[in-house]
This record gives sequence, structure tokens and C-alpha cells, in this order.
Amino acid sequence: MAKVRVGCVGLGFMGKAHFGIYKEHPNAEVVAIADVDDAKLSGDWSKIGGNIDDPSAKEVDLSGIKLYKDADELIDDPDVDLVDITLPTFLHFRYVMKALESKKHVLCEKPIALTLQEADKIVATAGRSKSKFMVAHCIRFWPEYEYLAQIMKGKKYGRVKSAIFKRRSVAPTWGWQNWLMNQKRSGGAILDLHIHDTDFINYIFGTPKKVESAGVPGPSGGIDHIVTNYDFGKSMLVTAEGGWSFHGSYPFEMAYTVIFDKATVEFSTSQSPTLKVYTSGGKVETPAVAEGTGYSAEIDYFLTCILKNQKPKIVTPKDARNAVLVIKAEEKSAKDHRNVAITNA
Ligand SMILES: NC(=O)c1ccc[n+]([C@@H]2O[C@H](COP(=O)([O-])OP(=O)(O)OC[C@H]3O[C@@H](n4cnc5c(N)ncnc54)[C@H](O)[C@@H]3O)[C@@H](O)[C@H]2O)c1
Repeated sequence: MAKVRVGCVGLGFMGKAHFGIYKEHPNAEVVAIADVDDAKLSGDWSKIGGNIDDPSAKEVDLSGIKLYKDADELIDDPDVDLVDITLPTFLHFRYVMKALESKKHVLCEKPIALTLQEADKIVATAGRSKSKFMVAHCIRFWPEYEYLAQIMKGKKYGRVKSAIFKRRSVAPTWGWQNWLMNQKRSGGAILDLHIHDTDFINYIFGTPKKVESAGVPGPSGGIDHIVTNYDFGKSMLVTAEGGWSFHGSYPFEMAYTVIFDKATVEFSTSQSPTLKVYTSGGKVETPAVAEGTGYSAEIDYFLTCILKNQKPKIVTPKDARNAVLVIKAEEKSAKDHRNVAITNA
């Protein structure tokens, strides 16, 4: 099968992860990278930080790869088929638009953009384009979350009565120019971190009718810790808590507890084994799920879409836009201390 020629833009925490996955993938070849930081272009990746332990190399051999300091030049490079954008969120709009207008395929990290207005423009442009475009909402591809989506769909344990999601972190102060700690650049923890659960809730339950959130500002200046109740207009409890206001060495945790008619399914990165099913008959099961991470699964899926000439269905541009729509409603709800209806989804 042909190889997709990839240009990676932004070699920080996520860029490094995407780069490593493409390097190992049989259907991809990294032909170019772009970053404003000379150290990254020299292969010195020792200063890249993140909230997940990363045992990979700190010095990277970039021989044979074109190196650009200016991302526009990488996008203009005719040898690049796919532009992979792992830039700080406030730069997504500018570079996604440029890459789509340049007829490149585009994988962009979540969130699609900083504002709903920008997201709408990207959705319109992607809709007119023949290129493939996907936002990397990795939780839709994360094995333990995919497992949950599957048992819900197949009604293995009946209907969902309650679903509680959680995502906790210390403040991510490792970013380029500390952009994550600037709400005007990152949107705060709600748009950067908590959006993973909001998007997954949209994915498995559909867009809620209204949201009711309580939240407090944190180190970014925006709402950095939130609890939301998602109202679907029926007797079902769906909540998510997310934030990065936790102190010191508090461990990163993503988790869910879902109560079905006939079982309680619980996943947490803080428990071992991470996934457990407590059946109504008293058994505790530990289902096997696919190996790997949502990052490798989403990239594999997107490469397949390109090679098969199919528009991605698991995350559509509208899905990514609707995740921002619901987050903005949650923000309003937390600030105004009232519930907010979701319209225009
Ligand atoms: N899916 C996930 O689990 C996940 C996790 C972390 C971050 N993210 C997302 O990934 C994106 C990047 O976050 P990060 O943590 O990797 O950030 P980061 O700060 O670690 O990396 C950003 C990189 O972009 C480079 N850069 C800045 N401006 C540039 C420009 N104009 N041209 C080229 N390079 C430029 C910086 O030098 C840096 O190397 C964000 O949208 C974030 O929300 C997703």
C-alpha cells in the first residue's frame, strides 16, 4: 500500500507523540517537521514535557526529514500530503484553514479551535474540501472508552442509568511559552482537558438538551475545575468532573463509572486492573481491550481514511465543533449559575 507523506507541525508534548506513531506506521512516512524552536529542529527533544510518563528518546535522529521553522513553508511543500497540527490551540484556526485551502489532508489536535466562530468557519471549509480532515478526539478511540461505547451499543448489560466521568491533572506548566496557563490561548482546563469527556458524552449519548455546571477559576485565569450535569431530558444521570487545579504530585487520572441495569463498569488509570465489571450476579470481570492508546488508533484510522479515500466518520468536523459548543455552554452555566440550553448543535 502507498505511504502517506506526513508533515508534523509543532513538536511539543503531543507533536512528539504523533511523530513517534507515524515513524512506526507502515503506511506513513514523516517527510517534514516544522517548529519555531531551533532545539526541536536539531533533534534535541529533552525539554518536551507532559502529564504522561514518556520513556522515549530525548535525542531524535531527524536525518532525511525536511526541517522548517515556518509552518507555512511546510504546508506549501508539495511533498507533504498530510499536515498534522499539534500546535497550541490558539493557532489551530490559522494553520488548519491554510492547510485545507492548500488542499492538504489535515489531522488537528483537539479542540478544533479556540472559539465557536472559528470552529464554524473550519467546518464550512472542510465541508467544501475534497481533503480529509479530522480532529484528534482520542478518547473516541481509547480502548477502554471504545469498550464502553460498544457494550452500550450492544446493550450487553442493559440500559445506562448513571454515567460519571472524571479527568484530573495538575496544572500543565510545561507548554511552549506557558500557553496553557493563559486562558486566552488555551481556553482553560474546560476547553483543553475536560473537553475529552464532553466530546465522549456527545459521542455515546448525543448532544445534551441542557447543561448545568459549577466551576471555579484556576491558574489559567479561566475555569480550571468544573463539574457538569448533562441533561438529556430523560431519567439518566450523566456527569463529568475535570480540571487541572490539583496540587504537587497529584497523579493524572482519567476515569468513568457507568451503572447499567445489570452491571457497573468502572475504569480508572489509578486502579489496577484499570477496567472492571461488577455484575449483578456478584462476579468481578476484567475484560480485555485492544492494546495501544487512542493516539495510535486515531492516527491509524485517519491514515486508512486517506488511503481508502473515505471521509472520517468517527469524528466529523461537526462533532468537533459541537464539543466546543457544549463546552461554551458549560462555561456560561458555571459563570451565570444557571442551566444553559444547547441550541444550534
Ligand atoms: N489529545 C490529547 O490527549 C492532548 C494532550 C495534550 C495536548 N493536546 C493538544 O495538543 C495541542 C498541542 O499541545 P502540547 O501540549 O503538545 O503543546 P506544547 O506547548 O508542548 O507544544 C507546542 C509546540 O508548538 C511549537 N510552536 C509554537 N508556535 C509555533 C508556530 N507558529 N509554528 C510552528 N511551531 C510552533 C512550540 O515550539 C512547541 O514545540 C493543543 O491543542 C493541546 O490541546 C492534546
